[in-house]
Amino acid sequence: MRISIVGLGYVGLVTSAGLSEWGHDVVGIEASPSRLDSLRAGRMPFFEPALDEMVQRHTQNGRFRFVGSEDAEDDLVASDIVMVAVGTHDGKGGWETATATAALTRIVPAMADDAVLVVRSTLPPDFVASLPDLVHELRRQHGKMAIPILLNPEFTREGRAVRDFLHPDRVVLGVIDDPEEVGVGRLQDVYVAAEAPIVVLPGVAATLSKLGANLFLATKISFVNELAVLCDRYGADVDEVVSAMAFDARIGGAFLRAGVGFGGSCLPHQVTMTVRTAVEEGLHLPLLTAVDEVNHRQRARFVDLVMESVDGIESPRVALLGLTFKPDTDDLRDAPALTIAEELLRRGAAVRAYDPMSSAARRAAEFIPGLEIAGSAAEAVDGVHAIGLVTEWPEFSALDWNGLHELAAGTTVVDGRNALSPTAVTQAGFAYRAFGRGSLDAVAAVPVDGEATVPIRIESEVQPRSHDRGTSTRRAADADLRQPA
Ligand code: UDX
Repeated sequence: MRISIVGLGYVGLVTSAGLSEWGHDVVGIEASPSRLDSLRAGRMPFFEPALDEMVQRHTQNGRFRFVGSEDAEDDLVASDIVMVAVGTHDGKGGWETATATAALTRIVPAMADDAVLVVRSTLPPDFVASLPDLVHELRRQHGKMAIPILLNPEFTREGRAVRDFLHPDRVVLGVIDDPEEVGVGRLQDVYVAAEAPIVVLPGVAATLSKLGANLFLATKISFVNELAVLCDRYGADVDEVVSAMAFDARIGGAFLRAGVGFGGSCLPHQVTMTVRTAVEEGLHLPLLTAVDEVNHRQRARFVDLVMESVDGIESPRVALLGLTFKPDTDDLRDAPALTIAEELLRRGAAVRAYDPMSSAARRAAEFIPGLEIAGSAAEAVDGVHAIGLVTEWPEFSALDWNGLHELAAGTTVVDGRNALSPTAVTQAGFAYRAFGRGSLDAVAAVPVDGEATVPIRIESEVQPRSHDRGTSTRRAADADLRQPA
């Protein structure tokens, strides 16, 4: 099939590569000349595992081409399907549909009478409802016949987007206007290669199923972060608590990792956009309002933990490990690390950060005046009074904490992703602070050159703990053994 994809951002580029992989002739239509130049030079505009190789392979075998928006007329006329994958949020927590409207205004009149229009961008429900009027009016003005209009929301995660596209849990098709079912039939033919359930819904239900999925994932994360508060208060490890809950098939264990909360281009915006629109429309959504609030509180709590650990130091220096919103991406959009770095700087700390994705680190330094960038974790930690882990890049789990202890001037590690081994960190001489590892908060650092003065809980990171250990942990907490900086 001949398919045009309008917009070569994350969604458009991954979709293009995946459709080429399934054997379709794909044309990517991109408005930004610089993005187009970089793609033509074989450079991906962002990092995504496996994408680079797949794009190169299909541009070389001729299945995937790029054209500028101004030169797309012939390809649009020749396409069986035109998919729109442009951004729909303003980057400040609001919807932004002007780009999608402009793209539709450009492409809809050029499409053939037997082509199918598919919107892959995430859309606000009221915009979905208004699409038939907009599209049919554009067709009428140009003397063209009505075309089928469908939605095909994406559920791909950054860092594993290619795999998620090729092997999705489900494919959702939203029917906005498709009286003869030509559009549904054509998309079903495309997605048969995914070997996944195909759910066909009315258009508004399809967009709400996309929003609903992300809102639910965000809710799970804020839920576990609230559960972590209970764990800290009563002395339990949130991962252990979740591991028991996860056996209940109604609950499951995914997306229940406590820490500094969710970032990225989807979850935070979709929560704030939903809450903001609901307020404007007089709806009451207290749960989603709280999801947003809890998420922001996590970042503030991380800053508080770091600042508590350097209390009394005149010019505190802090190392941040990780800047991207999660590992395996170079994406800094709504990355918790950026808010955290800004707030630490505002509160008077000098901040030096390291991220394995050096391009992201350089961009972070451009966004945040005063943020120093290090070329390695060791360089970041050299001479600092506190260390905060914000992104759980795998290399941080393998750090040599003994070596880092020699370099650091202070002795607290705040683990914002519950990703480190408390054993390795505390045995090196650091105090360990985390989210919902309340039982571990009570553990003082092992004196580097002597015997531990409190029982060190090192043996049970993976094994279930007995009630006895819980009791001894609480005793340690009662004795106020939290390690100062
Ligand atoms: C998300 C959705 O998962 C995906 O289906 C949708 O298509 C796009 O938005 P993505 O933004 O790539 O994907 O990231 P995701 O893996 O969902 O993580 C989002 C944020 O939540 C990250 O900051 C991550 O660190 C955080 N997170 C995730 C947690 O804090 N705890 C968890 O248990 C899981």
